Amino acid sequence: MTRVFSGVKPTGHLTLGNYLGAMRQWAAEDQHRSDALFCVVDLHALTVDHDPARVRRLSRQSASLLLAAGLDPELCTVFVQSHVDEHARLSYVLECVATDGEMRRMIQYKEKAVRERERGGSVRLSLLTYPVLMAADILAYGTDEVPVGDDQAQHVELARDLAVRFNQRYGHTFVVPRATVPKVAARVMNLQDPTSKMGKSDDAGPGIVYLLDEPDTVRKKVMRAVTDSGREVVYDRQARPGLANLLEILAACTGGNPAELSGVYESYGALKKDTAEAVVEVLRPLQKRHKELCADPGYLEGVLRDGAERARAMARPTVDAAYRAIGLLEPASETVVNAAR
Ligand code: TRP
Repeated sequence: MTRVFSGVKPTGHLTLGNYLGAMRQWAAEDQHRSDALFCVVDLHALTVDHDPARVRRLSRQSASLLLAAGLDPELCTVFVQSHVDEHARLSYVLECVATDGEMRRMIQYKEKAVRERERGGSVRLSLLTYPVLMAADILAYGTDEVPVGDDQAQHVELARDLAVRFNQRYGHTFVVPRATVPKVAARVMNLQDPTSKMGKSDDAGPGIVYLLDEPDTVRKKVMRAVTDSGREVVYDRQARPGLANLLEILAACTGGNPAELSGVYESYGALKKDTAEAVVEVLRPLQKRHKELCADPGYLEGVLRDGAERARAMARPTVDAAYRAIGLLEPASETVVNAAR
């Protein structure tokens, strides 16, 4: 069966963009058709200035939102990255296969490093090596497919390069993964800045709808969305990005088609109103399940414990094989040692 792996970084509250662009597809399709792992990649949240208590809180919340969004622990494996040592173990070995130049070419590194320096902060070494850890996340599980947004395509490409290189040098060890772009390409943009993605790590803003926003907050944010000058409701991503974003959100929530929907509306106000209600309705069941999960913390703990155990058992043989292949001495098993005594 196809192995699918994806990760959510607990650096911010999950957004409507995360849900419509990724999580919904994981729940509706990926967990049914494949052997899928969904990981709260908490180690990745430590690559920039962070607050330990916040990372802990967001990790738990991300996991519970994954379940609330419909991931079923009977069908897929949901776990927290730092609970499985194999990620860090493999990451080091892959650092011995990756090059310094390769890391410095990563677009996201360049952008984030500039931003950190502008803020007067220093750039953590882990920000540079982070794509290698991500490659380890993917390669440890013999992953075939990595469903991610296009901002992560370069990182998955790196994972492919490292897998191929390792296999050539040290013998076949890793499956070479590929990135898959969600079929229903709901690329939700920031409501206040419709040319940039609605990202969770962005500073909290009125342009981001969070999965746990109250209905009235959702309505307010959608009603205040930036729209383009003009009057008619037309679907044109280039010329009318604000309007196109609303039409795409509405389409994604109602199962419609943005171009067709544009013909239905005579005013921006009516479009916003329906979009706001559609978003509220999509979030309603998710928020209800999340509330139930919060009332029963033991359940989530159990899911994450079982998930980590399952993940460990899957990753262990591959990571062990990589250790052997690259030249690390195999620790003798206890039975061998006892027999020799
Ligand atoms: N880098 C991804 C992001 O910022 C998160 C991530 C970490 C990930 N490891 C992964 C995604 C492995 C897919 C597979 O969104």
